[in-house]
Amino acid sequence: MNETNQQNTDSNLLVDPSRIEAVLKHLLRSINVHWKESSESTNRDLLHLAEQDAPGWTVVGADSQTGGRGRHSRAWVSPFGGLYFSILLRCGVTESPVTLLPLTVGLAVYRALIDEARQRGGEIHPRLKWPNDILTENGKLAGILCEAIEENGNWSVIAGIGMNILPLSREVRRLIPDEVTSLVEEADLDWTKSGMVVSILRCLEEEVEQWHQNPEDIRERWIIASGMKDREITVKATGGPFTGKVQGINHNGGLVLSTPRGIIEINSAEGIKEKHV
Ligand code: BTN
Repeated sequence: MNETNQQNTDSNLLVDPSRIEAVLKHLLRSINVHWKESSESTNRDLLHLAEQDAPGWTVVGADSQTGGRGRHSRAWVSPFGGLYFSILLRCGVTESPVTLLPLTVGLAVYRALIDEARQRGGEIHPRLKWPNDILTENGKLAGILCEAIEENGNWSVIAGIGMNILPLSREVRRLIPDEVTSLVEEADLDWTKSGMVVSILRCLEEEVEQWHQNPEDIRERWIIASGMKDREITVKATGGPFTGKVQGINHNGGLVLSTPRGIIEINSAEGIKEKHV
């Protein structure tokens, strides 16, 4: 990191929710952004707000979380220096599969990363890992946890996004089984948390619209952004492990593999190993 970027780091990590609201109102729509210094889990906070009839696109973020939740009931270690926020998506009665939404959110985060880097005069090379991790060649950069609520056929989804902005300390790294990376390690750019939130919400609005109108397009662009087509992988899942070549994403967001025993479709997995080429 150069000296100027180092000096900017602290202020770049501050989030001014009213500024995000103002920028988004100009660009997109009126939304409510709640930002806290600390939360147990922003997904949990937003679930409570959803139960109290909060409107779609309500956002809750926090500078740190004490009980951050990850997929498969894992913890999401959330020290200061990361981005943690959740968005309420009110999907209503929909023909588009809600199980494709986590991939849709992943695609939005992937695009936002590339856009933000470009706007700051640099580049970053993320890729998507099924079902909803954002990686670089150095490790996991961001994760997504979507929690769905159904009421009389009306679907709502809490989409929670966690992204490492600053490098994680050695102590924190020890708590995480995967290789991890952060924005600052990936590119020496003047990243800001607020800028990232605005970019993600802008991309998410477009991708959610596309999910409603043309979910097929989400599946096609997702597989391109994963770079996984025709790659051989091993998936740890019920009845598995399964080894095969990635064919694509099915209607429900499941992974389609071509194996020596034929085509199989995996809807939930504990882990994926990629064969290095
Ligand atoms: C994963 O396991 O990869 C998903 C991690 C999702 C973490 C985010 S941080 C913001 C939101 N609040 C939570 O408690 N979890 C999600």
